[in-house]
Amino acid sequence: MRISVIGSGYVGIVTGATLAEAGFKITCLDILEEKISDIKRGISPIYEPGLERLIRNGLDSGNLNASTELEKHIANSDVVFVCVGTPSNEDGSIDLQYIENVSKTIGKSIKDSEKDIVVVVKSTVVPLTTEETVQKIILEESGRGRETVGIAMNPEFLREGSAVDDALNPDRIVLGCTDEKSKAALMKIYEGHTCPIMHCDPRTAEMIKYSSNSFLAAKISFVNELANMCDKWNMDFEMVAEGMGMDSRISKQFLRAGVGFGGSCFPKDVKALRRAAKNDGLGSEMLDATLSVNEKQPEIVVNMAREILGELKNKRIVVLGLAFKADTDDVRESRAFNIVEKLKNENVEVIGHDPQATEAFAEESGITCTDDLEEALRDADCAIIQTEWNEYKSIKPEFLCNLMKKPVVIDGRRTFDNGYFAGTGVEYVAIGLGN
Ligand code: UDX
Repeated sequence: MRISVIGSGYVGIVTGATLAEAGFKITCLDILEEKISDIKRGISPIYEPGLERLIRNGLDSGNLNASTELEKHIANSDVVFVCVGTPSNEDGSIDLQYIENVSKTIGKSIKDSEKDIVVVVKSTVVPLTTEETVQKIILEESGRGRETVGIAMNPEFLREGSAVDDALNPDRIVLGCTDEKSKAALMKIYEGHTCPIMHCDPRTAEMIKYSSNSFLAAKISFVNELANMCDKWNMDFEMVAEGMGMDSRISKQFLRAGVGFGGSCFPKDVKALRRAAKNDGLGSEMLDATLSVNEKQPEIVVNMAREILGELKNKRIVVLGLAFKADTDDVRESRAFNIVEKLKNENVEVIGHDPQATEAFAEESGITCTDDLEEALRDADCAIIQTEWNEYKSIKPEFLCNLMKKPVVIDGRRTFDNGYFAGTGVEYVAIGLGN
């Protein structure tokens, strides 16, 4: 079975590398030459633990190839995974331009052949897209009938920073197939997995993806609202979360209060589902609240700094952690941008620190960023933690006292255990800790 993966971003390269590891013949396709040359040289185009090893395994075994020649490889494939981006438009609606372009390319590529092919949408697309956009364009462009073109929607549930493990050990596999051909091909591809495999139609598969992400995002905003109450009523929300998490219906996961959710998925997916609902005259109050609570969280750590430092003007504040979460170099929708913007509006001298994401963040924010912790902390009046990198968890109190003008730590991610700084001279406050 020859498989092509169109789009070598987070989802595409992880999908391609893990399928190659499972023994399939994979060609990763992308229009960006530098991505393809990186992969062919065994260099991962993204920072993702364990991915570069899989890419090198695939190249060594001959299972993994990469190319910019989309039409040639699509025409020779039995299965094509669509893994292109679906960013947000200004109004929050989904931008399907890349999905439409790739659908046209697939249609053109298979126009002059009768060879069976299965097209699998893995990109996150709003309900009805696979049937009413992808399938429609492919059949129109190719002039082919449904009997030789299988169409399916197979969402991914990859978390950045643990994407390889999530791909190799998924909680579940959802197969939204419209025909036996695509069902048979996908059952073969996923036959090595022991997790539950769920069969449904494409729109249900699309809705499972959006519903799962929106539910997780709503859970985070709900937890943040509770944590803000705990701050006011002087209790530690982590204790509340511990008690909540003992209820299996709630589960212990995703109960971490903080400066809010970022990333390339939650903000985009919640906005897209909300817009799709509104466009069809449906209510979206829960999605509205999820986003509005999330927008307010970054302000909390800036207010904490103001309470401790008094006047923020001309103070030097370091934001520790620029990636939207630990173990990734991705800064998309990182809450650090919101924090930095609010500090700059108060004429604060802002320095950014991150072990992996300084380049991308500096380019987009315009502030000075460094991966040198000492340099970042020297003479700082305050440190605000936005990403719970392990590197920060090992910081010793005396390190801060020796370097900072005023050893003040405002923790936006509950990076440190309660009491870690007690009696050390470091003033420590955190979202959801109470005072
Ligand atoms: C998410 C979903 O988890 C994944 O299933 C989907 O496929 C893609 O979107 P990702 O965005 O990579 O994955 O990271 P995730 O670990 O979910 O974190 C998203 C954001 O929520 C981060 O900014 C993180 O800091 C924040 N978060 C997460 C919290 O604030 N509290 C939590 O308890 C968990």
